[in-house]
Amino acid sequence: MQLRVNGEVHDIPDNWQNETLLTVLREHLGLVGAKHGCGVGVCGTCTIHIDGVAERSCVIPVAGMADAEIVTIEGLADDNGNLHPVQQAWLDERVVQCGFCQAGQIMQAVALLEQTPLPDNAAVADTMSSNLCRCGTQSRIRRAIHRAAEKMRDQHD
Ligand code: FES
Repeated sequence: MQLRVNGEVHDIPDNWQNETLLTVLREHLGLVGAKHGCGVGVCGTCTIHIDGVAERSCVIPVAGMADAEIVTIEGLADDNGNLHPVQQAWLDERVVQCGFCQAGQIMQAVALLEQTPLPDNAAVADTMSSNLCRCGTQSRIRRAIHRAAEKMRDQHD
């Protein structure tokens, strides 16, 4: 099978095809931004995009992904290396503490802003509460999402 990730097509050998999408991304393709946390779809640290939707790659068999458009944190910056506004907002708000969950948090936040360009606090909390952070960065995550939302709005005006 082939897998399309961050705009590139990869051949996936037969011996990887019974693995999860997360395992193939990390261990076969070397895309280690998405992390292995709970492994059962609960913590969100493995969040990536499948056809524009935030999904938990630890519970998705790679075998069903042949026709999917997959984007990982490694594919968020543009071709010139400019960070996505959400990534830049993460830096500006100094969100990260230990960092383990943050790629998943960013991928979840990007998907949120693509569906809801100017979310209120309730919408942010509703979406982001399923991505766990033991360091307690949730308030900085919320500020970064609002900052990114405003920047993305200004870019589109
Ligand atoms: Fe996938 Fe926790 S590692 S949701």
